[in-house]
Amino acid sequence: MRILRMLLFVLVMCAIAANTADFEDGTSICDKCTCLVANSTTTVLSYDLLDCSRSNLLHMFDNWPKQFETSNPQREIVVSLSGNEMTQLQPLPPTSASLVFSCRHCKLENLASGLFLDTPNVLRADLSWNKLDGYVLSSDVFRGQYHEEENYASLSLDVLDLGYNVITQLTDDVFKYVTSLRRLSLAYNALGKISESTATALKQLIHLEYLDLSYSSLTHIDSEIFIEMHALQELLIQGNKLTVIPDAVFHTTSLVSLNLGENPIDTLNMNKPLHKLHHLNMSSMPALNRIHVDSFQNVKSLRSLTCRNNTALEVFDLAILGHAINLQQLDLSQSSLKHLSPPNRRVNDSLIQNSLELQSNLNSLEILELADNPWHCDCDLQLVLTHVGLKLDTEKNSRCETPNMLISLHLSELTHIDVCDLVVNETPKNSIYEKPAFLRPRAIFLTLLSIGIVVGVGIVIGLIIVCLKRRLTDNGIGFTSPVRYTSVRESTPSAVYQL
Ligand SMILES: *[C@@H]1O[C@H](CO)[C@@H](O)[C@H](O)[C@H]1NC(C)=O
Ligand SMILES: *[C@@H]1O[C@H](CO)[C@@H](O)[C@H](O)[C@H]1NC(C)=O
Ligand SMILES: *[C@@H]1O[C@H](CO)[C@@H](O)[C@H](O)[C@H]1NC(C)=O
Ligand SMILES: *[C@@H]1O[C@H](CO)[C@@H](O)[C@H](O)[C@H]1NC(C)=O
Repeated sequence: MRILRMLLFVLVMCAIAANTADFEDGTSICDKCTCLVANSTTTVLSYDLLDCSRSNLLHMFDNWPKQFETSNPQREIVVSLSGNEMTQLQPLPPTSASLVFSCRHCKLENLASGLFLDTPNVLRADLSWNKLDGYVLSSDVFRGQYHEEENYASLSLDVLDLGYNVITQLTDDVFKYVTSLRRLSLAYNALGKISESTATALKQLIHLEYLDLSYSSLTHIDSEIFIEMHALQELLIQGNKLTVIPDAVFHTTSLVSLNLGENPIDTLNMNKPLHKLHHLNMSSMPALNRIHVDSFQNVKSLRSLTCRNNTALEVFDLAILGHAINLQQLDLSQSSLKHLSPPNRRVNDSLIQNSLELQSNLNSLEILELADNPWHCDCDLQLVLTHVGLKLDTEKNSRCETPNMLISLHLSELTHIDVCDLVVNETPKNSIYEKPAFLRPRAIFLTLLSIGIVVGVGIVIGLIIVCLKRRLTDNGIGFTSPVRYTSVRESTPSAVYQL
């Protein structure tokens, strides 16, 4: 019995020894890594830096370098372990200094429980570009020290980056001890449809100001997720599979910046108010062909609208300026835009009135990007441009593609030309239908003419050859020589094939 107990003790000691050996030696860590100590006289660094990126470390270090002032909560330590193949991350050594920690590209699959147990003032943690899944991330990983009344103390974590991992769902209590988070990224994780536990986890983050859920295969966002996030200012949901703006978005009462791009949305409708929205990005949506301009009454505070690279969008209605009266920047480049206002709104008194209205609304617009669109330069476009009254950048490729007469004309020159008369001369007024290029009389005439020329030239050449031949045979030096026809049957090799 006693021997058994001894054996057990030895085993346990070995295990502990093995465990401690599994850490890098902190006293000599500065030989492998870059250590820089904050120096108040140089003012370059306001923090102590331990840069162990790409240093072939396999384990966490067991102690801080001696020169670091680890017991001073006023100090800040920045640690990078990025680019080391660690697979498993062990707890950090104790310090009461503020801590900024990163382990990107560490091939992490596992996180020790109590990762930040002894670093209660951890501010930022970057664990992106690893192989972490949702089951590895638990409340046990992100917790403070044991606290009698309420299990564990909370961490003061402010920023957490979990982007580029393999998270499909979060456990519902993962953020239980880090509810102070202000910035969270879950970008490039295949979240798909947000599961109930993921939603529960996210709902706890009521102090969140920035949430990145981009490129996460989202098909839907539960409408309650953001209800308690009264501080949320920036939401990134681009690069997902959303077909409409999720209702949840309209629950974010403080939202200032929204990126909706690269989603398969075909009709854009801001159907509920977002009173504080200043920046809206709706770029690279291949299906977008309709924008409910009147719905922009719901986003009156908009300052910038980025609507680039929407290849299905042919018309943009500048009546938007009447709703978002503070709009300063409007980027409409790289799309398929032909018209700046609906083509059915012809040049008549009401349009001119409209454009005068426009003019009074245009006071805020400072930047209008129109480059790389197949503009149809007609009277409407000229009127709009004149009244926008902005100088277009002549370096940018903003040119007319139709009508033929104005092809390649830079939009900045359009205002100097009497387009309204030109267009009226070319096509009858009010004709909306324009024949395709190959059906226009000019094109048909040209086609017939070229066919006629080809046929005529052919006939002439044929006649010349016939004449020449006649003359040559008459002279006895013909091209043709007598041919001897032999019967195939009579030749021997053919017999072989007949077998
Ligand atoms: C701070 O830096 C200066 C110049 O690099 C050096 O002379 C000085 O000893 C440093 N002070 C401390 C406290 O490290
Ligand atoms: C808009 O979003 C796209 C991604 O969809 C991004 O590439 C671009 O930089 C954003 N533009 C602005 C002005 O935010
Ligand atoms: C434009 O949008 C398409 C998707 O519609 C995307 O694949 C492409 O990368 C975008 N191009 C630019 C320059 O953003
Ligand atoms: C002018 O515009 C109004 C609508 O704004 C329309 O009812 C009217 O038919 C237009 N007139 C012409 C001549 O196109």
